[in-house]
Amino acid sequence: MTNSKKTLIRIVDLHKSYYDGEAELPVLQGLNLEVNASELLAVIGASGVGKSTLLHIIGTLDRPSAGSVLYNDQDIFNLPDTELARFRNQEIGFVFQFHHLLPEFTALENVAMAALITATSDKTVYKEAEALLDYVGLAERGAHYPSQLSGGERQRVAIARALINKPKVVLADEPTGNLDRRSSEAILKLLWDLNAKSGQTFVIVTHNQEIAQQVDRVVELVDGKVVL
Ligand SMILES: Nc1ncnc2c1ncn2[C@@H]1O[C@H](COP(=O)(O)OP(=O)(O)OP(=O)(O)O)[C@@H](O)[C@H]1O
Ligand SMILES: [Mg+2]
Repeated sequence: MTNSKKTLIRIVDLHKSYYDGEAELPVLQGLNLEVNASELLAVIGASGVGKSTLLHIIGTLDRPSAGSVLYNDQDIFNLPDTELARFRNQEIGFVFQFHHLLPEFTALENVAMAALITATSDKTVYKEAEALLDYVGLAERGAHYPSQLSGGERQRVAIARALINKPKVVLADEPTGNLDRRSSEAILKLLWDLNAKSGQTFVIVTHNQEIAQQVDRVVELVDGKVVL
C-alpha cells in the first residue's frame, strides 16, 4: 500500500553489460526508476530482458557498469565495501529466483544466519527465526533440511530468511515461480500482509498475472529500459 510518496530508491541512467571476452552483451541501457517508501512494485518483462540483473543491482549483489542507485539520496555504490556489505545485510532482504537455501543447514539455521553475523545473543535470533517460521506457516519444520521440504515450503523459508533483519526493502525474484496455484496464493498473501503490516518496500519480479494485478504499480522492462 502506498502510504507516502516519499522516494526511497532512485535509479538513474543505469547501465549493465556482461562481457564474454571482447563481446559485450548490453542488458540494462539507461534505465531510470523510482520506488516509493512502502510501495509494492512489480517488475515484469520477457525472459532474458534483465529483471534479475536489475534486482541484483538494487540489492547491491552486483554493481552497475554505469549509472547510480540512490537510497534516500545516498549513492550506495560509492560506499566502501565493508559499509556496502553492512547496508546489504541490514537494509535489504532478498528472495532469490531459486531460493538458494544452504542445503547443509536446517530451515531454522537458514532463517537465522544473516542475523547471527551481527547479533549479541544467538538465543534471541533463534527465537525471532522461530517466530518467522511460524509466521510463514512452517513452525513445525525448523529442524528440516531444504531437501526435506517442498518447493513452496522452501520458498517460504526463503521469505522468512529475507525478513530476519527487518529490512526496509524486500526484493523478491519470482517468489512464486515453479509453484502450484495454492502455494503461490499462500506466498502472495504473505507478501501482501507483510507490506500492509510492516510498511516495508517490496520490489517483486514476476510473470504471475495475479501478482501484477494486486500491486501498487507495475513497470515493464523492454530493451534495457523501463516502460509504462
Ligand atoms: N553473469 C552473467 N554473465 C553473462 N551474461 C549474463 C549473466 N547474467 C545474466 N546474463 C544475461 O543477461 C541477460 C539478462 O539476464 P537476467 O537473468 O537478468 O534476465 P531475466 O529478465 O531475469 O530473465 P528470466 O525471466 O528468464 O529470469 C540474459 O541474456 C542473460 O543471459
Ligand atoms: Mg530472472
